[in-house]
Amino acid sequence: MAVDLLLGLQWGDEGKGKIVDVFTSKYDIIARFQGGPNAGHTLVFNGRKHVLHTIPSGIFHDNTINLVGNGVVIDPVIFKKELDKLDEQNVDYKTSLCISRKAHIILPTHRLLDAASEASKGKAKIGSTLKGIGPTYMDKTGRNGIRVGDIELSSWKKKYRALADKHEAMIDFYNVDIQYDLKDLEADFFEGIETLKTLKFIDSEEFIHQAQTSGKSVLAEGAQGSLLDIDFGTYPFVTSSNTTAAGACTGLGVAPNKIGDVFGIFKAYTTRVGSGPFPTELFDEAGETMGLVGHEFGATTGRPRRCGWLDLVALKYACQVNGVTQLIMMKGDVLSGFDTLKVCTAYNYKGETITHLPYNIEAENVSPIYTEIKGWSEDLTGMTEASQLPKEFNDYVEFLENELGIPITIVSVGPDRKQTIVRKEK
Ligand code: IMP
Repeated sequence: MAVDLLLGLQWGDEGKGKIVDVFTSKYDIIARFQGGPNAGHTLVFNGRKHVLHTIPSGIFHDNTINLVGNGVVIDPVIFKKELDKLDEQNVDYKTSLCISRKAHIILPTHRLLDAASEASKGKAKIGSTLKGIGPTYMDKTGRNGIRVGDIELSSWKKKYRALADKHEAMIDFYNVDIQYDLKDLEADFFEGIETLKTLKFIDSEEFIHQAQTSGKSVLAEGAQGSLLDIDFGTYPFVTSSNTTAAGACTGLGVAPNKIGDVFGIFKAYTTRVGSGPFPTELFDEAGETMGLVGHEFGATTGRPRRCGWLDLVALKYACQVNGVTQLIMMKGDVLSGFDTLKVCTAYNYKGETITHLPYNIEAENVSPIYTEIKGWSEDLTGMTEASQLPKEFNDYVEFLENELGIPITIVSVGPDRKQTIVRKEK
């Protein structure tokens, strides 16, 4: 069976966790393929909110295997905290959670290096979540990293020490004021490693291959968003992994011709957390309203998210790079009450009107060109059927569908599992 993908199409925080959770009953396996604890996937059901960072969002369903793929980077300290929360809720993950031996491990010194690197950049900082993501992927591509499979080998602590010592020398090199007590950090780290060792480590590409040949259904769960992709995002203000569809191939060992549906998730407006260009960003009351009504605060860092109108130029680009087959629009409810909505349908790029994403979208080169659409006043949060949705809302969705040429099959009108409306079958 083909592997379906579910990806964020903007700068992250689109609501992937919620939709994976809603979709999980249709899949045998949910697999994370990139990123790490920089992600914060929020799920709400039975009146309770759950935030997952590294563990796939299918974990609350019985009979679903949750795989942390080779493309993911794991911080044993954060992973242990996630498991502790699952223990509190009596979630049985011992048989349902598997980890790829090829996934890389975030060391305490990776986090320190992240902090040192950001501090040294001053105003040009990326706005990293400081979870050690960049330095861990640097060690992966530099062929110095420590993988989950290594901790099964007796020699791994020697390798750990050598790498941590090298990192300390690098931290000194940055010449910034970073205070730390490595002994303390290592105590937590090695405790996390012991917890990790109680889980099931697998050769995940073989596992996925066997699952596919035996007819099992797999959903690959993306983290962050396409505009944060290391190659196709707004570099250098990006994360350090491929968040786009190709990342699922390399992050799980799935061949490109084995990919099925690509579900692209976007918010009805745009948000961004951290630094970097954002052409439709709002600095007025409209942006403030989106932030407040949409509770736009980072699930991992608590930082307020920057808000703005929907950017169709960027969204079209993300659909193209990912080969999106179905769209899912989140947080339509947040736009209730705006008399007029704006959608960016083109850019003024150095005096010329363009409809593709250019190399540089910094404000000095790009200003958005908007199309205005009538808004709706109805509260959508209690609606459960497509027939209840107001005309103006449907007009907005149809406008987007026509512009993007891809069906918007699901709209989400609130954080709860139940606030999910199927508009049309594909
Ligand atoms: P890093 O991946 O933590 O180094 O962060 C790099 C950039 O990606 C920063 O601007 C972060 O705010 C952003 N970022 C990383 N993970 C997420 C996420 O899960 N949601 C939204 N933004 C993220």
